[in-house]
Amino acid sequence: MDHSQLIESLNFRHACKRFESAKKIPKEELSFILEAGRLSPSSFGMEPWHFIVIQDQALKERLRPACWNQEQIAGCSDLVVITARVSDPARRDYFESMFARREMAPQMLERYLEIYQNYIDNLPSLYDWCAKQCYIAAGNMMSYAAMIEIDSCPIEGFEKEKVESILELDSTQEEVVLLIALGYRIDPQSKKLRLPFEQIVSFR
Ligand SMILES: Cc1cc2nc3c(=O)[nH]c(=O)nc-3n(C[C@H](O)[C@H](O)[C@H](O)COP(=O)(O)O)c2cc1C
Repeated sequence: MDHSQLIESLNFRHACKRFESAKKIPKEELSFILEAGRLSPSSFGMEPWHFIVIQDQALKERLRPACWNQEQIAGCSDLVVITARVSDPARRDYFESMFARREMAPQMLERYLEIYQNYIDNLPSLYDWCAKQCYIAAGNMMSYAAMIEIDSCPIEGFEKEKVESILELDSTQEEVVLLIALGYRIDPQSKKLRLPFEQIVSFR
């Protein structure tokens, strides 16, 4: 793909409101999108996310009222609920194994563990920190979906406790951050509204 094709993909992506509900995303394409999430960067490499793919129509219908009754929830092909695994990054055995896989010298590992422990001990909110990483994965998933002409809609309009309860999540372990509806558009794309490049980019 050349630059203009890549920009075309970024312009293709929009917050799709109505999906062709009968048209399902092929397994291989869905895996590609989820892989774009899995390969995303995260602070200290902690990967504090979980992607729950909802394909069951009845479950989508149950979630819809908890998501401001948005049509995309039940109309999409696949609904990805991104949760922050809020407990793991603070667990010594978890973060030690995450650093250990880098196969660094023992002294270096000790130093990393110390820096990390100090960092997370001083975080005002572990959920907020995990959520930031989840948004990076979400952005990648939506951009890569667009590259294979799959539509998406990020959804923050939901009642967190209700969604967590419907999904029977243990909120001491994971908390919902964001939902992404995936599928194929029905309506023509809305006009792309963006501030001019010069207004939001500066070089020094
Ligand atoms: C974090 C986040 C949450 C969003 N939540 C919703 C939502 O609940 N429902 C919705 O229809 N659009 C939602 N949007 C879509 C935005 O309104 C949309 O991305 C923005 O208006 C720009 O339009 P575009 O994505 O079509 O270019 C959300 C976008 C982001 C990034």
